[in-house]
Amino acid sequence: MGMLNIDELKEGMILDCDITDNTKRYRIPRETLLNTKHIRVFKMWGIKEVNIKGISEKKVETEIKTDDNQKLIQEASKIIKIKFIHNNLKHEGVQELFKQSIIYKAQQIKEGKLKPILPKADSSSNIDIKKLKIDENELVKKVTELPTLPEIFYKLNSVINDPRSSANDIEKVISKDSSLTLKVLKMANSSFYGLKTKIDNISRAILSLGTTEIGMLAIGLTFVSYFKDIPNELVDMESFWRHSIACAIASKTIASSKSVPGSERFFIGGLIHDIGRLVLFKFHPANVREAMLYARQNNLFLYEVEDQLLNAKHSTIGRLLVKKWKLPVSIENMITFHHKPTNAQDPIDPAIINLADLIVNALDIGTSGEYLVPILEVETWKVLGVTPSIFETAINQINKQLQEIIKFFIHEK
Ligand SMILES: [Fe+2]
Ligand SMILES: [Fe+2]
Repeated sequence: MGMLNIDELKEGMILDCDITDNTKRYRIPRETLLNTKHIRVFKMWGIKEVNIKGISEKKVETEIKTDDNQKLIQEASKIIKIKFIHNNLKHEGVQELFKQSIIYKAQQIKEGKLKPILPKADSSSNIDIKKLKIDENELVKKVTELPTLPEIFYKLNSVINDPRSSANDIEKVISKDSSLTLKVLKMANSSFYGLKTKIDNISRAILSLGTTEIGMLAIGLTFVSYFKDIPNELVDMESFWRHSIACAIASKTIASSKSVPGSERFFIGGLIHDIGRLVLFKFHPANVREAMLYARQNNLFLYEVEDQLLNAKHSTIGRLLVKKWKLPVSIENMITFHHKPTNAQDPIDPAIINLADLIVNALDIGTSGEYLVPILEVETWKVLGVTPSIFETAINQINKQLQEIIKFFIHEK
């Protein structure tokens, strides 16, 4: 939220305080969605500044600056309303995310970036839901037969998690892989970190950015390059990783804002939260395609359709994988409970991933197959103990970092 000069007000913004005239007889209440008439009235009343919900002054610079603002907002609202169909719009958190999503979508429409990322639901196709069920044992067997992660992944993981290891140890591990070294150095020198001095070796990168940051960066890079070429006809891999990387950024941002220890691990948790979907896409594309259509036709969550009709939840498959790869329990916890954090013994970590996933789904940044915005549970919001301003903070970070990370994680060979 923030105070804005009267000249910076735009249609579609939401008041964060009551505005009254001099006589205090007339009032435009808090939560009003502004239109041109309101702005004219404020000027008539001699109002100089107005408190706007969820909008920082910086954000206004990127606000839509056209006369057909109203039309864009309406068009965006139509799309976003459907996506929020199962959410309670009276909830303070949902309200703010809803509003931010409309602004984001309107910007996308204005820039001509509105392309469908998922197939449209074809209501004429008859889906035989009885045929969707996947043989659980067979799937578990396939998961256990998947290759293990490259050796370097485990080495990095163990040096990062060993309190006795030094910067030297992590440098040794990264330096053994020349392409990884090059990528880490390119990333360290990118505008993403905005360092003033040139980083020409790993030890300097560690000195400037810290052991954990560099370690997690290397792990993330290893991870994505290992999985990015899985052929997938349902959701293209770039879209899948866009969703995952945006979720990684948002998760890390939420964790840092709450000062949760080791916020870097949330980057990895966010990055692989939907990894179980890749397994489903890979081994059961036909079943998942039908499940996706069924979910769209009936306005259901894909993660619920997975549970009820496929008999295979991506969170459970993800958990199997994470166990097989011997990743830390905290990551396993994030993956397993990211759609139902309050089922976890320690719900805070999965709650952070859950909120990040909600944001990324609401903004339509890439996709992992879900069309609707998952429900923001009241209990999860309580566990998180955040305020609605977290959405703008996370979205700003996604805007700032996503393109740069995608460049290094996906496009650099
Ligand atoms: Fe998920
Ligand atoms: Fe997700």
